Amino acid sequence: MKGVKNIYHHSYTFSFLLVFLVLIIFHPALSTYVNTMLSSESLTISSNRTLVSPGGVFELGFFKPSGRSRWYLGIWYKKVPRRTYAWVANRDNPLPNCSGTLKISGNNLVLLGQSNNTVWSTNLTRCNLRSPVIAELLPNGNFVMRYSNNNNSSGFLWQSFDFPTDTLLPDMKLGYDLKTGRNRFLTSWRSYDDPSSGNTTYKLDIRRGLPEFILINQRVEIQRSGPWNGIEFSGIPEVQGLDYMVYSYTENNKEIAYSFHMTNQSIHSRLTVSDYTLNRFTWILPSQGWSLFWALPTDVCDSLYLCGSYSYCDLTTSPNCNCIRGFVPKNTQQWDLKDGSQGCVRRTRLSGSGDGFLRLNNMKLPDTKTATVDRTIDVKKCEERCLSDCNCTSFAIADVRNGGLGCVFWTGELVEIRKHARRRWSRSLRTG
Ligand SMILES: *[C@@H]1O[C@H](CO)[C@@H](O)[C@H](O)[C@H]1NC(C)=O
Ligand SMILES: *[C@@H]1O[C@H](CO)[C@@H](O)[C@H](O)[C@H]1NC(C)=O
Ligand SMILES: *[C@@H]1O[C@H](CO)[C@@H](O)[C@H](O)[C@H]1NC(C)=O
Ligand SMILES: *[C@@H]1O[C@H](CO)[C@@H](O)[C@H](O)[C@H]1NC(C)=O
Ligand SMILES: *[C@@H]1O[C@H](CO)[C@@H](O)[C@H](O)[C@H]1NC(C)=O
Ligand SMILES: *[C@@H]1O[C@H](CO)[C@@H](O)[C@H](O)[C@H]1NC(C)=O
Ligand SMILES: *[C@@H]1O[C@H](CO)[C@@H](O)[C@H](O)[C@H]1NC(C)=O
Ligand SMILES: *[C@@H]1O[C@H](CO)[C@@H](O)[C@H](O)[C@H]1NC(C)=O
Ligand SMILES: *[C@@H]1O[C@H](CO)[C@@H](O)[C@H](O)[C@H]1NC(C)=O
Repeated sequence: MKGVKNIYHHSYTFSFLLVFLVLIIFHPALSTYVNTMLSSESLTISSNRTLVSPGGVFELGFFKPSGRSRWYLGIWYKKVPRRTYAWVANRDNPLPNCSGTLKISGNNLVLLGQSNNTVWSTNLTRCNLRSPVIAELLPNGNFVMRYSNNNNSSGFLWQSFDFPTDTLLPDMKLGYDLKTGRNRFLTSWRSYDDPSSGNTTYKLDIRRGLPEFILINQRVEIQRSGPWNGIEFSGIPEVQGLDYMVYSYTENNKEIAYSFHMTNQSIHSRLTVSDYTLNRFTWILPSQGWSLFWALPTDVCDSLYLCGSYSYCDLTTSPNCNCIRGFVPKNTQQWDLKDGSQGCVRRTRLSGSGDGFLRLNNMKLPDTKTATVDRTIDVKKCEERCLSDCNCTSFAIADVRNGGLGCVFWTGELVEIRKHARRRWSRSLRTG
């Protein structure tokens, strides 16, 4: 449990703000009376001008992927030899050539094309300009717009971190901001040299009994993270106990979101979604580039619905699908041909009295579509409640920390279970 904190760490380093690059400054008095003067005061950035974050890690500017002819406004790592983009503003509306202008208009950031047509905008509707507005690239790669006299992160008018492209940077949140209703998720590039929106997303699904991250390609689910267990998502192969990276997940009335934080600023890490996969890349100097830390799906047991209900996938067995003890293959013929997709059925009917639970350790919890959670009760109460509900098929501890608290119940068929090869902080699952 070392190194795990369930809180969000703000790491905007405000002491650097004095050296930021201001894109546009305008005077409120001017803006009130002569709106047309704003653009003449604007600093523009074009193909040969960029903003560099204090500390020099990130750079914002226009780019053209090699082999392509269209231009984009984006943020990339300045020091990584092979160009790596972390964010793209106009991914689905590229500029025909390098003549583009980024400026603040009203209190919106706008990107104008050659004929001053709006190619991209922050689309904010509030326009009470109570003080000058500036835009800046923060040391962590967050491009923000704010009142010049308010450097508090909770007062940002707009931030690129709320509009992810395909990459989750440290301290960026993935999931719901319940105040705005916005679900921040990752969407793949169409191809390695085409930033336009691809078909794969990585998104938090809160319609389930317990929120889970789902890797989706065009509405087809590819992999699910399993619910957060207080320490990790059992379906994400993060390495626990690293002294330079901490993971956090917050679930309260303001947000339901995941983020990670780097405690050693000379180590860089990012989560990036591409076609059918989610990858964590890490770059540790003096290495010249990124190394793949892990990728999802990891193996055949990550294939959704490979093993049907009441069975689990185990990499160490052949076939990989195994019926839960007390259950037998629903279709023996298919099962013998190593097709476990139809799953298993109970060998003997539940009697209703004297039924017990089978404890399964080291399991990725079943799909939470039919789960409900009660965070206030303990394991003992959990068992009693499951026994007294004739629809309850199993239960598990919701938060494994400190001996365990909270209870998850399943009332439907149990699907999509896998057994982990290595020891994890997983909950035990009990099935009736
Ligand atoms: C942030 O704003 C506060 C109040 O406006 C100011 O006192 C402080 O110096 C600012 N910090 C930086 C780094 O600009
Ligand atoms: C930047 O680009 C503009 C137009 O593309 C050009 O007029 C200007 O000379 C360039 N400046 C530098 C320093 O290259
Ligand atoms: C950009 O394209 C527009 C029309 O598409 C053209 O008028 C303009 O000259 C081009 N600018 C540059 C710098 O190539
Ligand atoms: C775009 O706007 C700038 C500044 O207002 C102006 O100088 C320029 O002529 C405009 N370009 C076009 C094509 O309208
Ligand atoms: C801004 O609004 C326009 C028109 O509704 C839309 O096409 C565009 O995607 C919006 N931009 C952003 C960044 O949401
Ligand atoms: C930033 O704003 C939040 C919420 O408005 C407030 O709780 C916090 O004290 C502020 N921080 C600073 C440094 O002003
Ligand atoms: C995304 O889906 C569309 C529609 O099915 C398809 O035409 C396109 O080739 C797909 N793109 C990629 C990158 O797979
Ligand atoms: C941060 O990581 C670098 C690269 O691995 C290492 O050389 C340095 O000692 C680390 N710093 C701390 C404070 O751990
Ligand atoms: C059990 O499930 C059935 C069918 O979904 C439903 O009608 C019934 O109310 C449920 N019973 C309980 C105790 O929730």
